[in-house]
Order: sequence, then C-alpha cells, then structure tokens
Amino acid sequence: MDYFEIEGKNQLSGDVQISGAKNAVLPLMVASILNNDQLTISNVPNLSDSITMANLLRGMGSEVELSDGKIHINSQSINDPYAPYDLVRKMRASFYVLGPLLSKFGEAKVSLPGGCAWGPRPVDFHIKGIEKLGATIDLEDGYIIAKSNKLKGNKIVFPKISVGATGNVLMASVLADGDTEIHNAAAEPEIQQLCHFLNSIGAKISGVGTNTLQIQGVDSLNSVENIAVIPDRIEAGTFLMAVAATGGEVKLNKVNPNHLETVISYLRHANVNLDVGDDNITVLSNGDINSYNIETNEYPGFPTDLQAQWMLLMSVASGDSTIKENIYFDRFNHVPELNRLGCNIDVDLKTATASIKGKRKLISADLTSTDLRASACLIIAALCAEGTSVVSRVYHIDRGYDKIEEKLSKIGARIVRKK
Ligand code: EPZ
Repeated sequence: MDYFEIEGKNQLSGDVQISGAKNAVLPLMVASILNNDQLTISNVPNLSDSITMANLLRGMGSEVELSDGKIHINSQSINDPYAPYDLVRKMRASFYVLGPLLSKFGEAKVSLPGGCAWGPRPVDFHIKGIEKLGATIDLEDGYIIAKSNKLKGNKIVFPKISVGATGNVLMASVLADGDTEIHNAAAEPEIQQLCHFLNSIGAKISGVGTNTLQIQGVDSLNSVENIAVIPDRIEAGTFLMAVAATGGEVKLNKVNPNHLETVISYLRHANVNLDVGDDNITVLSNGDINSYNIETNEYPGFPTDLQAQWMLLMSVASGDSTIKENIYFDRFNHVPELNRLGCNIDVDLKTATASIKGKRKLISADLTSTDLRASACLIIAALCAEGTSVVSRVYHIDRGYDKIEEKLSKIGARIVRKK
C-alpha cells in the first residue's frame, strides 16, 4: 500500500492547476445514461472514483473510455440495469444510477451502499423520493429492486438537504409523466452543473441553484456531444488552507471563486490574504493565522468536505476556536491522528462540536488516513510539522485528489510517494 513521506516546515510558493470536480464528474457520468448518444466529458480529474464509476457503467453495458483528462462514454448500449455490491460499497455515489436506470429502463437492481468511514450515511431520502414518483421498491439480499412502467411527477420534500438524493430523484423525474417539485433540494455547484447538463439534452428544470427545483416531465431527451467539468472547489479550498497553514504565496489557476465565497470570507476572517481573480485565487500567508469559529452547512455555507482541513488550520492559529459539524455529526476520524502530531482537539459528539486549541507546535509522526478528506488534512498537518512524517493508506486520497503529491512538490513541498 502506497504511503507519503513528508518533510515539514517548507514554505510553499508557485502556481497550482486545480482539476475538475470529483463530485461533478460522477453525476455527469451517471447522467450519460440519459444522453442519447456518445458524450465526451472533459476537464476530468484522474481519480480512482472515476475509474470505479467507469467500471460500474461498463458492467451494465456502457462503452466507457478514459484518456488524458477526457471520458468518452456511450451508455446507449446499456442492457443490464444492475449495480453490484462490490462496486457500490467502494463508492457510495454509485447509488446515483438508481434514478436514471429506472427512468430509462423501467427497472433497476442497485445494491445498498453499506458502511462508510463515518456516518450513518443512509439512502432513505433517495428511496422515498423515487417511491413518491410511483416506483415500486423492494429490498432483496441487500439490493434495491425498483420497478415502474412510467414514473409520475409529484411533490417531494426532503427532510433535509441531500446532494445525492437530489441528483437521484432529479434524474428519475425528467422523463416522468407530469411535473415534479423537489423541496429542500441541494444547490451545490455540482448539482447545478447536473441540472444544466440535463436541460441541455432537453429536460425542463427550473429553480437551478435554489433549494426548490421544478421539473416538467418530457417525453424524450436528446443528446449533447461535450461537457467540461466545473473546477473542484474542495481541492481549491484544500490548497488554500495548506498555504495558509504552512505560509507562502501560491496562485491557484482554473478555479471558480464564486463557488468558494464562504470559504474565502472565513479565510479572510482568519487573516489570510487572498487576491481573487475571475478564474484564479492567490493566497498569501506569513503563517500568522487568527482563530475563527465556524459551522459547516449545505451550499453556499462552509462545506463539510473542508472541515478537517480548517481544523488543522485552526490548530496553528493564534487562539482557540470551535467547529460545529452540521452535516455529519461524527465526521471527526481525523482528530485522534491530528492529536498525535501535537494538536489539542476535543470533540463533543452530542453537539457535533470540536474545540481546538491554537498555537500548537506540531511534531512529525507516523499517521494513518481514514477517509478522503481526513487524508488531505493529515498531509497539510505533516507539511506544518517539525521533522518527517509518514501518511499511510493514501489510496483514500487518490479517490479525490489528482496527483496531489506532484502538485504540492511543484510549489515546494517535500513529499514523496513510496510503495
Ligand atoms: C455528497 O455526498 C458528497 N459526495 C460528499 O462528499 C459530501 O460530503 C456530501 O454530499 C455533503 O456535501 C458526492 O457528491 C459524491 P448528502 P452525499 O446526501 O450525497 C443525510 C467527498 O469527500 N442523508 O448530501 O452522500 C446524510 O446522512 C464526499 O467528496 C440522509 O439522512 O451526502 C447527511 O447527514 C464525502 N438520508 C446529509 O443527509 C439520505 O437518503 C447530507 O448527505 C441521504 C442523505
């Protein structure tokens, strides 16, 4: 299993190219099921999750080819609407196929996702939403068996905002008979791109970017040939916090600052100097960080996927702070590992709040990644620590960051991948 060896306390400087968004490319790959011809997705990051999704679609009969930042995909050849457990359990986003398969084929057999590094991460909103559109849903041997002759539009109110459930139900509703309203819909940029893509092939979705989506069911969809994935706001936020914590000056290129408004605002409250351009952000930090209490929230709030990275930044800030995690009450697996580096963080799971001591002097250690974003936080921590740290199980990081060690090395970090 690969691991990273990281020598800390090096200032970072130079330019970084931000890749396309993992959480946008996955739903677009799934939406190819509804695209009535070959689709080329560009600005695609080289991630293990994209490969997993490609294998899932290939298993159903789709033709998928990944090559140099592009995915050529034609899902018209799908002949088996079936998503097996061994792929769905590796990547929860596989569950998104339920809606489009049902919409296109009238049936789908999709494994329940199973456990995650934190959670529970149920899919009850997905299932109840699709039932409201008239599907019959049975559970057999851990698989959801969904059937419907013709889905019917309906009003769906999610108990709370869910990115995945919004995407799943949205893709089920576009070919339904009649109109659908989705309340408490996710407004994340990745969902907005999915809506724009579906509208470009003939769907009729309005309210894009708000928490209420209206969908007029259409009889058929057509196709587009190309779509470019939006920049990855979580990768961009990760690099902003890495430079803020270690100190230095770095320009991030190919970003969309509009997707990072809250993150930019909070970093500026923490005394991080940011120069924001149309498609770039330059971060300048002398490592002198102010503490700032935050909460994670659905978009446009502060993303839960940057919570761990922010926690590390607050550990090297000048004062104490708190983080309230409002999306996943137990997304704190990174805390014990951070404390082994010299952080001093307490978590109250009852209130899903972490209390972080500032001014910590971090000393290198051997660290174990537990999940994708925790791995990113540990890498930043190692960059701030005195000495050389080892971060193991980097397969987690490869799920969501495209060649992170190459991008970090290019701006002066001493990080090497070893077998
Ligand atoms: C998406 O996961 C992202 N993944 C996650 O990013 C991200 O953390 C999450 O949204 C929140 O922003 C992808 O886009 C592939 P949710 P998703 O449904 O859709 C509860 C990363 O690191 N819920 O928005 O699975 C759920 O437990 C990953 O890139 C239900 O209760 O998240 C959570 O508390 C990690 N029932 C809240 O809703 C359901 O049926 C939000 O989850 C669905 C969700």
